Amino acid sequence: MSINSYDFIAPFYDPLSSLLLGNSYRQSKHTFFECITPNMNIWCLGGGTGNMLPTLLSMNAPNGKVIYTESSQKMLELAKKRVPEQQTRRVIFHYNDTFDWPISARADMIICQYFLDVLTDFQLNALFSKLGTVTHPATRMLFVDFYPLPSKSLLLYTMIHTFGWATGHPRKDLPDYAYYFTKYGWVTDEERNFENGFIKAKCLVREI
Ligand SMILES: C[S@@+](CC[C@H](N)C(=O)[O-])C[C@H]1O[C@@H](n2cnc3c(N)ncnc32)[C@H](O)[C@@H]1O
Repeated sequence: MSINSYDFIAPFYDPLSSLLLGNSYRQSKHTFFECITPNMNIWCLGGGTGNMLPTLLSMNAPNGKVIYTESSQKMLELAKKRVPEQQTRRVIFHYNDTFDWPISARADMIICQYFLDVLTDFQLNALFSKLGTVTHPATRMLFVDFYPLPSKSLLLYTMIHTFGWATGHPRKDLPDYAYYFTKYGWVTDEERNFENGFIKAKCLVREI
């Protein structure tokens, strides 16, 4: 795997996100966590510094696992530091960028927070295809990301181009999330808006 340029911004990522998005950032990342129940297998994709890992581990205790997939070694190192010694058996830190699922059991919960917006359309198709094979009919997805809003267009432009420059990720616009949800059979069960809809948190379920 090539060196991931998120390594470069890993030490500044959390303060920068809080500075740009304030309390909405922290709140949005904990939205719908009440859907997490004991012993679930949770697949957390592109989780970054792992700032919500301790909460995930308390929600799926005592025996649930978190598969923590990250393509940045530095992000993974920061995330590892957040896990108490006695909980390490419950986290699989998975250094990977091609959406490989490393265990035989299926995922009960998928977590994609501020992650789909950094993927290319090719990667989005690959990820959603993969989700079809590692989930089951009751799997839920907790999604949080940015949506276009005229009053935030300058902020969005600045964020996309600054992060794009710092990390080298090629995406220069927001994906059409609804297109992928519909194409791959995910429907919104619940939704909450932050910053007047600039940020949306969704709990999605598989279409039956
Ligand atoms: C914008 S950050 C979001 C971090 C965190 N989820 C949050 O809520 O702030 C995107 C993260 O996805 C990771 N990432 C990017 N492409 C990836 C891929 N193909 N597979 C796994 N992780 C990836 C980056 O290393 C980075 O930590």
